[in-house]
Amino acid sequence: MQIAPQRAISRFYSVDVNLAPLFCCRKINSVAKQALRDTRETSVQPNQRRKVLVTGGAGYIGSHCCKALYDAGYQPICYDNLTTGHADFVKWGPLVVGDVAESAKLDDVFKSHAIVAVVHFAAFSSVDESVTNPHKYYRNNLAGTLSLLEAMRAAGCLNLVFSSTGAVYGSADSKPISESFPCAPINPYGASKYMIERILSDYRAAYGLNSFCLRYFNACGADLSGLIGERHEPETHLIPRALMAIQGKLKALEIYGSDYNTPDGTAIRDYIHVVDLAAAHVLALAKLLKGHGGGSLNLGTGTGFSVGQILNAIRATTGKQVPQISRARRAGDPSILIADPAQAKAVLNFVSRHSSLETIVGSAWAWHQATRQDNL
Ligand SMILES: NC(=O)c1ccc[n+]([C@@H]2O[C@H](COP(=O)([O-])OP(=O)(O)OC[C@H]3O[C@@H](n4cnc5c(N)ncnc54)[C@H](O)[C@@H]3O)[C@@H](O)[C@H]2O)c1
Repeated sequence: MQIAPQRAISRFYSVDVNLAPLFCCRKINSVAKQALRDTRETSVQPNQRRKVLVTGGAGYIGSHCCKALYDAGYQPICYDNLTTGHADFVKWGPLVVGDVAESAKLDDVFKSHAIVAVVHFAAFSSVDESVTNPHKYYRNNLAGTLSLLEAMRAAGCLNLVFSSTGAVYGSADSKPISESFPCAPINPYGASKYMIERILSDYRAAYGLNSFCLRYFNACGADLSGLIGERHEPETHLIPRALMAIQGKLKALEIYGSDYNTPDGTAIRDYIHVVDLAAAHVLALAKLLKGHGGGSLNLGTGTGFSVGQILNAIRATTGKQVPQISRARRAGDPSILIADPAQAKAVLNFVSRHSSLETIVGSAWAWHQATRQDNL
């Protein structure tokens, strides 16, 4: 079992005075400083921190969640096989390199640490790849989760926050979508997540394993202090691909469909900043630790932006036009997908605070300018 040095935690606290150059506009910079002031919890002693296992904590959303957990007084323990994650994103606690399918290794982690809860991000998440290679998705996402659940039950750890997705709704085109909308995923990725939600519901009833399934809509943006950000390889998401096109790392951004029934003809989605997502996980975890049984909740803002509006925001932030090429609509892509966030507000008291287009694009652009590798 490989444990990375803890000294990265203290490095975090010495870094923030050097953050300013990462931010391209003064407003984002002041938001970043306020966010750091709001979340800092230096008073919690290491031995008082409750330990939370974060599977997939070296990935995009998982690493932001580790930071939020640490700032809220928890001790994240990252468990990641580094297939799509990055060891340099693990800055707020130890890294255990392992696969969720490795039962003995998981048992070891639960024995070595008094883990009070698990936040489970580890999964593959490319919709297109899941269609051509469903086995990979059911094996990793579904079988991997079953293995994790067995280890949790064996250790008596009965609190889980699970990364689900708006893809469980399939091609729903109602606006906005509430949790009562029927789930009908249209690809193996969404199906694997929905199956896990069903399993978790059964485990809650039978074994008292409580869980929140958080259905993210479009995750985006980067840590407001510039320490971590989005680094998928290959990158498939709109905003990072648009920024890569501006940087000359892509020839042009493909825009799928410009004949939708929307004001500018491009598809409308609900974009939620990764820092907001991370905050929601901390709220869900706290609720579980107080004895709440959990459930399924949308994480979105309730507001939609079209691809055209995103590209305008990118032009306003960067001063550059995104090189683009029009393509036909993709099968199964609805014109509008917006979350109804009312349940997350009612149950978790969650509201998104950092999901303005300005903050999303500004933080993503700062991250791309500062760190993005050329070989993507
Ligand atoms: N990015 C989005 O917009 C989005 C939207 C909805 C849901 N999600 C879900 O959120 C989660 C995180 O997504 P992300 O964008 O951060 O992806 P990511 O690829 O950056 O992170 C996934 C992490 O899990 C690790 N991992 C994968 N399989 C593993 C295994 N078997 N054992 C241990 N570690 C493993 C990877 O190495 C990686 O660090 C996923 O479950 C994804 O399905 C993401």
